[in-house]
Amino acid sequence: MTSLFDPLTLRDLTIPNRIFLPPMCQYQCEARDGVPTDWHLVHYGARATGGFGLVIAEATGVLPEGRITPWCTGLWNDTQRDAWRRVVDFVHAQGATMGIQLAHAGRKASTYRDWSERSGSVPPEDGGWETVGPSAIPFPGLATPREATRDDLATVVAGFVEAARRADQAGFDVIELHGAHGYLISEFLSPFSNHRTDDYGGDFAGRTRLLLEVVDAVRAVWPASKPLFVRISATEWLDGGWTVEDTVQLATELQQHGVDLMDVSSGGNVLAKIPTETLYQVPLARAVRETGMPAAAVGRITDPAQAQGVLDDGSADAVLIGRAALREPSWPQRAAAELGDPDLARYPHSYLRGRWPAVVEQPER
Ligand SMILES: Cc1cc2nc3c(=O)[nH]c(=O)nc-3n(C[C@H](O)[C@H](O)[C@H](O)COP(=O)(O)O)c2cc1C
Repeated sequence: MTSLFDPLTLRDLTIPNRIFLPPMCQYQCEARDGVPTDWHLVHYGARATGGFGLVIAEATGVLPEGRITPWCTGLWNDTQRDAWRRVVDFVHAQGATMGIQLAHAGRKASTYRDWSERSGSVPPEDGGWETVGPSAIPFPGLATPREATRDDLATVVAGFVEAARRADQAGFDVIELHGAHGYLISEFLSPFSNHRTDDYGGDFAGRTRLLLEVVDAVRAVWPASKPLFVRISATEWLDGGWTVEDTVQLATELQQHGVDLMDVSSGGNVLAKIPTETLYQVPLARAVRETGMPAAAVGRITDPAQAQGVLDDGSADAVLIGRAALREPSWPQRAAAELGDPDLARYPHSYLRGRWPAVVEQPER
């Protein structure tokens, strides 16, 4: 049974298969205005024509200062919303569903993009900005953030709410809140980066407070018919940090706060030795799923049989295919053929004559 191509229904949304494109920053807003461009239309559009069931747009700043880089997308104004609408409409027209990862980059904001000549924090004279974090503790190699005040946190929560409203207006089917990889919400979760003594720090309840406030505030404006995901770094891979046990407890709580699926990643908030083998994060998704919370597995899943195996052994409800989809936008179409069910894949009419398994037709015209 090739269950990778079974639909997945969450609330009123039916995702046509269980192969998701994870959020991946493109750093392609050359005007530095957070407005998605033709790049985004082509990039996300190609993965939709390639057969992905759910295409999740990259970490998108809910506030200008919440962007990872000046070239990242945003959703804090109507111009950005309307530009996203064009991308969402195209993805929908291909039979795929579309989500967006809403994010605040916290102390890891205002950095150069991967291929910049410079690295580290972007100074104000080059278009960067002052960052905020739970505490004035820098991520190694980046500028020291200002400790966020309660007003700052209220602004952040309001930013998520307004972005969620605009995401609905743009037609997105799913919101994923970025609670992973050492960005603002993840910084609050971790005892390494959160040394606060107010009620946003300290014990588990304090460190999860910002995330739960964002979840509740977004859930209140995001339609009840549409699913809400949270991406989490399930472990920091370092003693003294956030643990899998914390993640399991959080998963139980998030179910009560109306979260429909957890996208289970790891690391990113501290320098740690992270395993690199294939499927290394799958056991983390399994731990979440065992609480009853639907889970998606991500990380070095490249081979269709492996991906199917992740579903077969009950570790996850869906898989996310990241870097493999950068090199192969139509990964799901090849996967269906390799798994012996080529007809399960979705193709645009224009591409049918090129479908897997490859056949040589005569005549070519
Ligand atoms: C170019 C690139 C950009 C990424 N941007 C994001 C992002 O915006 N948000 C996020 O949560 N993860 C991001 N990631 C992590 C991916 O979503 C994914 O978790 C990771 O690449 C592991 O999956 P893979 O082995 O299938 O690539 C990014 C990864 C890459 C390669």
